[in-house]
Amino acid sequence: MSAKFSAPKGTYDLLPPRSEDFRRVAEALSAPARRAGYGYAQTPTFEDTALFERGVGESTDVVSKEMYTFLDKGGRSLTLRPEGTAGIVRAIVEHGLLGGQLPVKLWYTGPNFRYERPQSGRYRQHVQVGVEAVGVDDPDLDAEVVVLADTGYRSLGLSAYTLQLTSLGCAACRPAYRVLLVAFLEGLDLDADTRRRAAINPLRVLDDKRPEVAAQLAGAPLPPDHLCAACTAHFADVRAALDLLGTAYELAPRLVRGLDYYTRTTFEFVHHGLGAQASIGGGGRYDGLIEAIGGPPTPGVGFGLGVDRTMLAAAVEGLVVSPRQRVEVYGVPLGEAAKRRLLVLVDELRRAGVAADLAYGTRRLKGAMKAADRSGARLALVLGDRELEEGAVQVKDLSSGDQTSLALDDAVASLVGRLAETSMEETR
Ligand code: HAM
Repeated sequence: MSAKFSAPKGTYDLLPPRSEDFRRVAEALSAPARRAGYGYAQTPTFEDTALFERGVGESTDVVSKEMYTFLDKGGRSLTLRPEGTAGIVRAIVEHGLLGGQLPVKLWYTGPNFRYERPQSGRYRQHVQVGVEAVGVDDPDLDAEVVVLADTGYRSLGLSAYTLQLTSLGCAACRPAYRVLLVAFLEGLDLDADTRRRAAINPLRVLDDKRPEVAAQLAGAPLPPDHLCAACTAHFADVRAALDLLGTAYELAPRLVRGLDYYTRTTFEFVHHGLGAQASIGGGGRYDGLIEAIGGPPTPGVGFGLGVDRTMLAAAVEGLVVSPRQRVEVYGVPLGEAAKRRLLVLVDELRRAGVAADLAYGTRRLKGAMKAADRSGARLALVLGDRELEEGAVQVKDLSSGDQTSLALDDAVASLVGRLAETSMEETR
């Protein structure tokens, strides 16, 4: 059978069993935040286009080239969110959360959309797990955010990655640094496009990876060497807190990241087995963002972890993310009356917390037993007319082949007991 449609370019379908792994990874990446007092937030998948233009920044590839922007039927310009931070802080301001307890701590997950050139690890729809901690400027909070991300990766067993850390300065020291950098860039041989990018945000040029540009940037002035006293102290405090918490990092003075809102602490988790798309997550402080989108001057810090890329990293490291999902009990009805009874029994088992399934659409024993084997169940319940008359059901242990008979009336209770016993033996 050939499919008429396929998933749009740069996207992919998640189906069992990988889809189960995906859920597990997202769960593991968000668990540390949930244990640290972050509440779950869900904002719309699309927002006012201007929110991203002002928030993420017009010099970024994300805004200038990659946004899925459309007019709705009411003539509003909307954009599928390319990232999560702008929408979350918009919601924080809109709902007056800054008037309550600070920091406001939120975690979120969901798809983001960027019209990028698809390649392994780079998709047009990707999922992030993120946190934002807003309203407090405390370097220990920066460290908390970094450690939460690291804890999430470690809980999956990941280890072949490095945490890169830098400080990009603030509204006080960035302008003077910018003048220095612009003067340096003017002396270089850059193409018109790069010059244009440099005119809007010269920092953007620092992470240009093209060899002819990178070679010229060897002697460029770098942000951490030009911090004001307050930013120097802040950065030292973040590092000291990370040291105290035992989280290893590497200083990365050329790290700028792809979004314009970062100030001070900026970080990225780089995996060693992923080739070009090596960033499995990143984030930082964004002390000017909330003001830029029309809120009061408010500090904030957060991260976004790429679930798709974390999946790839786990595969590269050979990690088993989740045991294969399976049912424990599988009903094999022989005949219509038996099917009616098993339908009820399977439903009762499910309500009692036992994962159970039933052979649908087949009346033959052989086909139904094959389905029972494939389901991964430990026990098959075989019910035919004779058993029905006797008020019993045959229970077949699918690994040993042993067969016993159970009274139908208390089958649920005995099965629940039997399964609990075997799972205890397994964990012993
Ligand atoms: P970002 O670095 O643009 O940051 O994205 C975060 C992570 O999402 C990346 O490290 C990567 O793992 C994943 N990712 C990004 N684009 C793609 C793609 N096209 N395909 C697959 N994975 C991708 C942010 O989005 C910020 N909002 C993070 C943040 C939160 N900063 C402060 N708070």
